[in-house]
Amino acid sequence: MREAGYSIAVYPGDGTGPEVIREGEKVLGALAEGGPAPWHLSTYPGGGQYYLASGREWEPEAEAAATRADAILLGAVGWPGATLPNGDLAGRALVLGLRENLDLFANVRPCKLYPGVRHRISGSYREVWSPKNVDLVIVRENTEGLYTPAHGRLARARETEVAIDTRVITRKGAERVIRYAFELARHRPRGAPADGKKRVTCVDKSNVLEGCRFFRETYERVATEYPEVEKDYSYVDAFTQWLVRDPERYDVVVSTNMMGDIITDLAAVLQGGMGFAAGGNIGAEHAMFEPVHGSAPKYAGKDQVSPFATFFAVEHMLRWLADRHRDPRLIRQADRLERAVARVLAEGSARTYDQGGHVSTSAAGDRVAAAVRVEDP
Ligand code: IPM
Ligand code: MN
Repeated sequence: MREAGYSIAVYPGDGTGPEVIREGEKVLGALAEGGPAPWHLSTYPGGGQYYLASGREWEPEAEAAATRADAILLGAVGWPGATLPNGDLAGRALVLGLRENLDLFANVRPCKLYPGVRHRISGSYREVWSPKNVDLVIVRENTEGLYTPAHGRLARARETEVAIDTRVITRKGAERVIRYAFELARHRPRGAPADGKKRVTCVDKSNVLEGCRFFRETYERVATEYPEVEKDYSYVDAFTQWLVRDPERYDVVVSTNMMGDIITDLAAVLQGGMGFAAGGNIGAEHAMFEPVHGSAPKYAGKDQVSPFATFFAVEHMLRWLADRHRDPRLIRQADRLERAVARVLAEGSARTYDQGGHVSTSAAGDRVAAAVRVEDP
């Protein structure tokens, strides 16, 4: 427990990032009213737009603040035309760079459908899944796999002949993320919605890829330490259909980096869309929390996108801090935020455009902040 309060480094980033982060700050402000705030926020610019304006992705002090902070809150990075000289996304330092440099090895993406949230297939809202069917967490390896920076081009006479990305699976990388998934399953109170069983599903392509065979062998070895958690396997291609057909079978899912990237966006459809999907990038010493939707340039400046993913990112951040510092105050604040969000969603009083509504980003933030104020601390 930190009496002086936790330091949170905030990077709003590009596009709609600052709009949703503003609402996150608003809600944190409402939680802290009536007492000394158990946290203090420091905000730093950075990302693709900043790069276009300044020639730098961020300032050295912004980078140093990420290392010093107790937790990091990120909006989104990426802007059309903002590319580094080597072809990389300008702003990568704030997301991929932090994952690498702070060794944020587990990308933890809860996927839960709250009552009152609509979900969409082929353009219309349908009651395909009910909230009692969707409550899983996907744990994605976050530092290696196909994202390993062992890649390049072979050019002959300045003409690209071959482009190569190398997929690296290491013992350490696989083991720690799989262990994280089992620990999470052990501590989740309810297990899979279908049968209440604690279960970790290993999603891979071990029928074809050597790295995936090694990932699965590692899964087998770690699983022996968790006899109370059911083992489960799925090839990634088959998983995409099972996830949509029977989401209630899943409790915790673990996968490699690129596969995890893809299946988490698919899973977001089950929880109401990208407007609800948040991720925690978690390491042994540091953690960064973000809405997963990206900078959405098309909607930038329109006060239109959903701030709910950011509220879930904030909630996840408070729970992680509470756990790390054994601070029950923060568990109460996270519970309070979750209750407020759940109530607003159930009422359907803050539906942004992605939910078929007309409520603005800032008005949705106002509703949740108001709901926080009337929740008992
Ligand atoms: C995500 C994003 C990132 C990724 C991008 C922005 C580099 O898609 O967090 O899922 O590929 O990991
Ligand atoms: Mn992604």
